[in-house]
Amino acid sequence: MTTTSVPTPAAAPTTEVVLEAEGLTKHFPVRRGVRDLFRPALHVHAVDDVHITLRRGRVTALVGESGSGKSTVARLLAQLFRRTAGDIRLRGESVTVRGGRRFRAYCRQVQMIFQDPFASLNPVHTVRYHLTRALRIHGRAGKTAADLEANLHDLLGRVQLTPPERYLDKFPHELSGGQRQRVAIARALGADPQVLLADEPVSMLDVSIRLGVLNLLRDLKERLNLGILYITHDIASARYFADETLVMYAGRMVEGGDSETVTQRPAHPYTRLLIESAPDPDRLQGDAHELAETTPVDRAGGEPPSLIRPPAGCRFNPRCVHVMPKCRTDLPPRFDLADGTGHWAACWLYENGAPATDVAPGSADDGDAAPAAGTDNGRVVKP
Ligand SMILES: Nc1ncnc2c1ncn2[C@@H]1O[C@H](COP(=O)(O)OP(=O)(O)OP(=O)(O)O)[C@@H](O)[C@H]1O
Ligand SMILES: [Mg+2]
Repeated sequence: MTTTSVPTPAAAPTTEVVLEAEGLTKHFPVRRGVRDLFRPALHVHAVDDVHITLRRGRVTALVGESGSGKSTVARLLAQLFRRTAGDIRLRGESVTVRGGRRFRAYCRQVQMIFQDPFASLNPVHTVRYHLTRALRIHGRAGKTAADLEANLHDLLGRVQLTPPERYLDKFPHELSGGQRQRVAIARALGADPQVLLADEPVSMLDVSIRLGVLNLLRDLKERLNLGILYITHDIASARYFADETLVMYAGRMVEGGDSETVTQRPAHPYTRLLIESAPDPDRLQGDAHELAETTPVDRAGGEPPSLIRPPAGCRFNPRCVHVMPKCRTDLPPRFDLADGTGHWAACWLYENGAPATDVAPGSADDGDAAPAAGTDNGRVVKP
């Protein structure tokens, strides 16, 4: 039996840029009551001036805390939101689509995977229904019933749900969380996409099955030469899974580079804070009470800023232990850290290149603030 319509591994070179965004900006209008009619309109500055490049055969991680704008970036890239400003280019061509045939054509190439597989699958329909619909919408069902069946089997095989007959007629509630997410991935693959936008694809799964799903995505990246945007809170998983890591804070990109460098030699004080805040069994060996009093988040002064009136200058400045007067007024551009890896940080500390000795606590105008982290040749070490 031949399967003409199922995706076959693409032959494109792995570094081909497939999707890129420049100056991507999204400001959501704040809903106003009658009493606000004569007041100036307010906006949530969810995403500002984001640059992102996705290449075939590579995973790019987008990391940041809750509310930093990660999902908004993914939805803008998927053309689910109208952007306030900026450009999105698919294989070099600017694209703006709003529904209809052009939107379907775009979706065929750029697919999204959501955090909650249970919510993204219709509980009253079987796996067969979900996958058949995806294949039909994207014109990949084949000509005969036998073609369709073969394509369904092939899709399930790709996400390692085998034997396929065991899963095809199951409803979402009859599957485990990991199996549901695999079905959601199979549905996305039904379009034969070039890009997968995975918005926290494993954060709702049991820890024990997260690795399996990440390994599956990595395998698909390699076999199908997909470009993957991997959105996560968990910077440690970015190191394991992603080729490149971008760090986002309060709607802006603050650091980027290859994952090993960003996670092992973080430059931006926010990235250091993120890494320091990740659970680390070594730190738990200390006195629990002492630990609770000295978490890095506490020492860095707590909360992310309001996105309705974001701070001037660097948005991280109210929490930054290295804050300088300039940080409160001037927006830092990306500074290339000249370490030969493409590593950059949007932080005034690097205005004159990487500091001779790495950013030592108290090296800047940080007043009485306590350090966020000690450093050892740029590698974050426990305080
Ligand atoms: N449809 C919307 N209308 C108004 N504000 C929105 C809308 N969607 C998101 N926002 C706001 O934009 C900001 C960024 O939200 P977003 O969901 O992109 O963050 P996130 O980084 O994905 O967070 P999380 O990690 O919790 O998923 C938040 O302040 C959020 O409240
Ligand atoms: Mg989100």
